[in-house]
Amino acid sequence: MNATAKPDGKTITVTVEGTNKTATLPIISGTVGPDVVDIRKLYDQLGVFTYDPGFGATASCESKITYIDGDAGVLLYRGYPIEQLAEQSSFLEVAHLLLWGDLPNATQKKDFELGIMRHTMLHEQIRRFFDGFRRDAHPMAIMCGVVGALSAFYHDSLNINDPEQRRICAFRLIAKLPTIAAWAYKYSIGQPFIYPRNDLGYVDNFLYMMNAVPAEDYKVNPVLSRAMERWFILHADHEQNASSSTVRLAGSSGANPFACIAAGIASLWGPAHGGANEAALKMLADIGHVDNVPQFLHDVKDKNNHTRLMGFGHRVYKNYDPRAKILQGSCHEVLAEMGIKDDPMLDLAVELEKIALSDPYFVSRKLYPNVDFYSGIILKAMGLPTSMFTVLFAVARTVGWISQWKELIEDPSQRIGRPRQIYTGAPARDYVPLDARG
Ligand code: SDX
Repeated sequence: MNATAKPDGKTITVTVEGTNKTATLPIISGTVGPDVVDIRKLYDQLGVFTYDPGFGATASCESKITYIDGDAGVLLYRGYPIEQLAEQSSFLEVAHLLLWGDLPNATQKKDFELGIMRHTMLHEQIRRFFDGFRRDAHPMAIMCGVVGALSAFYHDSLNINDPEQRRICAFRLIAKLPTIAAWAYKYSIGQPFIYPRNDLGYVDNFLYMMNAVPAEDYKVNPVLSRAMERWFILHADHEQNASSSTVRLAGSSGANPFACIAAGIASLWGPAHGGANEAALKMLADIGHVDNVPQFLHDVKDKNNHTRLMGFGHRVYKNYDPRAKILQGSCHEVLAEMGIKDDPMLDLAVELEKIALSDPYFVSRKLYPNVDFYSGIILKAMGLPTSMFTVLFAVARTVGWISQWKELIEDPSQRIGRPRQIYTGAPARDYVPLDARG
């Protein structure tokens, strides 16, 4: 990062009532979006911390990668609107954009694609890791284990202070995640692993490794390939979400990038985050029919029920998630290509969305469909098992994670992440010997 954001003269003064304690804190403006109050000197000046569980109002870092305007439903990757990238770009072109900061020219694009394709194979001994898992292991468990283990093989790209090793490591992770994901799937269905092919593009190679068998030729369907490319682009990055923040916090300690990405995969797995695409499809299956929607929504509103409308709501988007809109359109394209005239799951999803968005409970809480609401329907129509949905999210988000990690390592103001707390436990007390306890 060439310069950290600097105060622009504006300040905010905080006074502790009933005391003469005052702090004057600088305000920093970004390119676009809300200003931030730089509270780094707050404790020195006032002896107090800020308190923001879930970090809903806290900027953890300065970043130039992605920007979201949650009220306007805007998502920009390095300034480019997601709608234009989804329509006109390719996943590797977006990967170049997120990693290096701009769209590649023709030569850069060709070199980047070649560089990635040359790293798609795995060390042959990594195959043996898969045999250690039960066949019915969740593929996200396999992803956590195998990606974390990559640091045991690629010692020449672990020095986080060497730009060249950071580059190679980024290439290795972007290139190898699809191979690991495809092999996790093949392992779960008892089919032989399919090796990557360098004559195929990134997405075609992934679909080939997922669907080909040694017994016959396999041709990637161009309509499904384009839909998968768009799906990957939409899932590539999203500011400081839970998994990206996990990668940054792990990276701030100097942990190697393979371990940081494995931590990101673990965080993404949660149903409140990347696991929501799998959970949303399961929810639609459980609802079963549009006649059951009123009862389901009644259960969602009953707090004692702990039922959530999966694929709805977002910490940042208080308007429609632009990715959901694009994915909804893509659903129809894929279903048509697969000859699925009316998919009951999609019909139910559209009906559920319509009813929810006319219900004051959801409208008052600004709960709209997010990226996970329609994403599962597309993947299911493409013949992918529900258990692979979050795995695909991890494949795509690896580009965002490694871009955020690279930005963290290159930020001169970066320090180890170490949040504080408010302590409400027992005050200091003396040890009680066992025979004196009640
Ligand atoms: C992703 O951060 C990112 O950018 C993530 C992501 C990315 O690309 O990285 O966009 C990907 O993770 C999308 C989100 C996928 N998760 C789901 O679809 C799971 C269902 N959604 C929720 O659990 C929830 O909406 C969150 C986790 C997404 C956001 O949670 P918040 O911001 O903490 O909101 P909240 O839990 O404080 O909810 C506010 C109110 C509460 O009601 P009240 O206490 O005010 O009465 O809204 C209610 C919640 O009960 N609410 C929901 C709901 N989401 C929020 N009620 C029913 N169904 C829901 N889905």
